[in-house]
Amino acid sequence: MKLKLKVRVKPDIKRKPREVMDKLTDAVRRKVRRHKLMARPKRRSTPEALLGFGRFVANPRRFGGFVSGPALAEAITRDVDTAAGPVLELGPGTGVFTRALITRGVAEADLVLVELDPKLADRLREAFPQALVLCCKAGSVTAEMLEGRRPAAVVSGLPLLNFPAEEVERIMAAAFAVSSPDAVLYQFTYAPRCPVRDHIMDRIGLVARRTARVWRNVPPAFVYRISRA
Ligand SMILES: C[S@@+](CC[C@H](N)C(=O)[O-])C[C@H]1O[C@@H](n2cnc3c(N)ncnc32)[C@H](O)[C@@H]1O
Repeated sequence: MKLKLKVRVKPDIKRKPREVMDKLTDAVRRKVRRHKLMARPKRRSTPEALLGFGRFVANPRRFGGFVSGPALAEAITRDVDTAAGPVLELGPGTGVFTRALITRGVAEADLVLVELDPKLADRLREAFPQALVLCCKAGSVTAEMLEGRRPAAVVSGLPLLNFPAEEVERIMAAAFAVSSPDAVLYQFTYAPRCPVRDHIMDRIGLVARRTARVWRNVPPAFVYRISRA
């Protein structure tokens, strides 16, 4: 690639030719450096929907479906008490709910993100460098892994309806075991009933109620608030 440069050096008869050459060389170097900076290609991040689709194709059962829209992100984070302490997010995927939590006022350093897909976990580490990102199954999270944080709220984007009952039970038990006693878990689902079966709720001692119907999402979704009985 050819680079056209216009470099002006003030005529100065008192200067020695060597000094003029040095000035000229410096000016050219500065121009080339600036041109390189301007021409450096920007790193473009894959749009969320496209990335989500790619991860869905890679593992449809685990990814679950669509990347959630802003209306669902608002509905599932709306009741999170931003001043109460750390927030645990299960299955953050591309970070749609994570961004909504930060917009609501949760400090990035107060976020613990548990994402099983290593590609998505790496992307979350890049996007939220102050958050603690754990790449593991949500059901295997322990208090030690949280490095002293005691979540006051849990937000879950996990496609629980795709999971066997034992895994759902492990996830619920782990989430409430590592959280504060009055912690609340917000879970979305595409079915009009709580995705955690009654016998699991009873065994762990939990209760659920629906807090939102989100029609402006593809597909429409429901939000459940799950807490200790
Ligand atoms: C439907 S996506 C939700 C992403 C985002 N919250 C949203 O609504 O767009 C579910 C995410 O959960 C992750 N996931 C599935 N099973 C998991 C598990 N057992 N533990 C942690 N993450 C899991 C998937 O890799 C995926 O990124």
